[in-house]
Amino acid sequence: MGITYMDAKKLFRMDTRRTTYLIGLSPEGYVGHVYYGRRLKSEGNSYLLRMDERPFTPSVLEREKASFLDFFPTEYPAGGVGDYRESCLDVRCESGSIGCELQFEDYRILRGKPGLPGLPASFGQEGEVETLELVCRDALLNLKVTLSYSVFADTDIITRSVQVENCGEQHLKLEKVYSACLDMDNRDLEMLTLVGSWARERHIQRGGLRFGKQTVSSVKGESSHQEHPFLALVTPEATQETGEVYAMNFVYSGNFMAQAELTQFGQVRMTMGIHSDQFCWNLRPGESFQAPEAVLTYSAEGLGLMTRNFHDFYRGHLIRSPHQYAKRPVLINNWEATYFDFDSEKLLEIAREAKKAGIEMLVMDDGWFGKRNLDDSSLGDWTVNEEKFTSGLLDLVEKVNEIGLQFGIWFEPEMISPDSDLYRAHPDWAIRIAGRTPSQSRAQYVLDLSRKEVVDYAYGCVADILHSAPIAYVKWDMNRQLCDIGSACLGRESQGELMHRYMLGVYEMQERLVTEFPELLLENCSGGGARFDPGMLYYSPQIWCSDNVDAMERLRIQEGTALIYPLSTMGAHVGDCPNHIVGRNTPFDTRAHVAMAGTFGYELDITKIAEEERAKIPAQVEEYHRYQPLMQRGDYYRLASWSDRKPYDCWEVAAKDGSEALVTFVQVLAEPNMHSRAVFLRGLQEDAEYALEGTENVYGGDELMYCGYLVPSKQGDFVSRLYHFVRVR
Ligand code: DGJ
Repeated sequence: MGITYMDAKKLFRMDTRRTTYLIGLSPEGYVGHVYYGRRLKSEGNSYLLRMDERPFTPSVLEREKASFLDFFPTEYPAGGVGDYRESCLDVRCESGSIGCELQFEDYRILRGKPGLPGLPASFGQEGEVETLELVCRDALLNLKVTLSYSVFADTDIITRSVQVENCGEQHLKLEKVYSACLDMDNRDLEMLTLVGSWARERHIQRGGLRFGKQTVSSVKGESSHQEHPFLALVTPEATQETGEVYAMNFVYSGNFMAQAELTQFGQVRMTMGIHSDQFCWNLRPGESFQAPEAVLTYSAEGLGLMTRNFHDFYRGHLIRSPHQYAKRPVLINNWEATYFDFDSEKLLEIAREAKKAGIEMLVMDDGWFGKRNLDDSSLGDWTVNEEKFTSGLLDLVEKVNEIGLQFGIWFEPEMISPDSDLYRAHPDWAIRIAGRTPSQSRAQYVLDLSRKEVVDYAYGCVADILHSAPIAYVKWDMNRQLCDIGSACLGRESQGELMHRYMLGVYEMQERLVTEFPELLLENCSGGGARFDPGMLYYSPQIWCSDNVDAMERLRIQEGTALIYPLSTMGAHVGDCPNHIVGRNTPFDTRAHVAMAGTFGYELDITKIAEEERAKIPAQVEEYHRYQPLMQRGDYYRLASWSDRKPYDCWEVAAKDGSEALVTFVQVLAEPNMHSRAVFLRGLQEDAEYALEGTENVYGGDELMYCGYLVPSKQGDFVSRLYHFVRVR
C-alpha cells in the first residue's frame, strides 16, 4: 500500500486497501490519468493514455498538439492551449491572454500530509497517510503548479489539492483554480448529487449523463441549501451494495463548481473546485495560491461502501473536536419555543422543566443581544439586551447552571444589520459595490471578512461574551447569501479575491475560536443547512442539518446528509407539532427516533407540550445516551428508502465488530392489507446469534442478513420503532 514510482514505465501508483490510482507521463511530460478503480494485482501500464490516437482531421503530424490535448486523459488540464474540455487552471498573463501548458518537472513522496495554511484540511499521522507531490511548470510563465495527492489507505480515500506559485517576472491573474480532475471512459455513468432548497436540503438526485456539461455549483458565498459540493458518478446498476461509484466531496464552504462533462470520444471529465465566477486572484512574482482540498473515493461495492469510506475518513481524519466521541449533551433550544419573544424568566422556566425531564443543556438562540426583538436589527452589536436580561448574562448563565444545565448561546458573527450601532459607526464594513445600494436579505448585510480589522472585531465580540460567563456551546449561524461583491478595502485589481478572502476570514475566526476555547462545543449552522460541508466539520463536530424538524421531511434530508457525513455530525431535534414549516403532526416517539439519528435535542416549548409527551423525555434522553457510542463509531447501512418510493424508511448502525446493531424503521404511510416487511440487516457476524432487546427472540446473524428480519405490520401513518440486536453467542 502507499505510493510508488516506476521509473521505467514513467508511472506513479497509489494504492489504498481496495483501490488503485495510476498516473502516467507522456514523452513530452504531460501528466496523464491512467486509472482509478478497483485495486490492481498487476503492476499497471500507461497504455490507457491513448498516445497513438490519430488527429481528428487528416494531418501530416502523428500527434498534432491541439487534437492530442483534447482527448489526452489528464490529471490537471490548463486552459487555452488546445484541451477544449473543462479546464482546471486559467491563467491570464500581462499581455491579457489566457494560456498555460503544464509539464512534469519533479516529484516528492512524503510520509504524512502537510496542512494547507488558512484552510480546513484532512490530516493523518505518519503511517496512516502518504503524500505524492507532482511538480509541474509552464516554461513561458515560469509558473510552478504542485499537484498533491494524499493516500489514506485504510479508508480508501485519496485527497487532492493544488498549489500555484509564480516563479516568473509577470503579474499573473488566476481566473480559475480547481482542485481535482478525473478523466475516465463513460460506461453509461449516472450522476448522483444532493440538491434542494431551504428546509429541504440535500435530497438525493440521480440521472443519466448526457453529452456536454452537467454541474452542481454555488455562487452564493456558501456551499448552499440548493446544491452541494459533492458529486458521484455511478454505474447504472449501482445500488447500496453493488456497482461502481466515483465520488468527490469538497473541503470548502464557499463558492464551488462540481462538474461532469461527457465528450465526443465517450470520455467523462469530472472536476471540482472553487467556482470561477467572481473569482480572479492576483499572483504577483514570488506569490503562491493554495486551492482547497477535494476528497475522492472509489467503491466497487456500491453506494453503501462509499458512505462508510466517507464516514470513517471524516471521523478519523477531518473532525478535530474533543467532543467527537464524547457524550454529547442533550440540549433544548428556545428558537421554535419563543422565537424572539423571551427574557431571562422565560428561559429559566424552560430550563427548570428541561432539567426535570433529564435534558442537559439550554441553548439561547437568536434575540438576546442589542435591541433585537425581530430579525431587523442589531447584528454586530453583541452586547446583551438589558431589557430582556435585567441582571445580565452572567446572572442568567449561573442560574441555568444552578438548575443543573449547561448553557449554550447563538451568534451570527459574519453579519451586520443596517440598524445597528456597528453599521452606523462602520458602514464601509459591509460588503457592497461602491455607489450601488446593496441588496438586503433578512434585513442584513454581510461583513467584509476580507479585512483584518473586521475579522478581529467580529471574533473579539464572540470571545468577549465567552469570557464573560461559563458558556459550553456556541451555535454559529449565517443567515444570508453574499451578493453585491465589493470591498471598500480591496483595490480595483483585487475585487475578484473577495469571495475567497471572505471564506479565509471565516476560517480564521473559527480557528481562533477552537484554539482559544478548546473545550467549547461548536455547532455550525446556516439558515438551517446551507453550510453543511467538510470545511465546517474541520471546526465543528456537529452542524445544524436543516430548519425543518418535521420527522418526515427529515427522513429525506438526513438520508442525503448521511450519504456522506457521519451521523454524529447531523444536528437533529425533536420539534413542536403541528410542525412550524409544513404543519404536519407526527407522533412524539417518531420525532425522537428520527432525531436520534443525529445529535439529539429538543426544539419546542417544554413548558407547553402535553404532559404525556413531557413524561416521555427522560426515557428518550436515556435511550439516546445508551445508543450514542454505537451511533458515533458504528457502520451506517441504508436498508430502505422512502425517497426511493418505498412506503417506509429504514437504516441501521452496526458496531464495527458486529457485536450489536440498531435498526430504525419508520412507516411513512400505512397501506391497507399489508403484511410484515422483511428488512435485511448488514454488518453482522454470520455465525453469531443476536437477541432482540425487549423480547425473548434470538436470531442467527446470517438469518438476519440473508432471510431478513420481519417488521410486523402496523396501522397508522408516521409510526416508528427501534430494534436493538445484541450478540449473545
Ligand atoms: C436559522 C437557524 O437555522 C435557526 O435554527 C435559528 O437559529 C435562526 N436562524 C435564528 O435566526
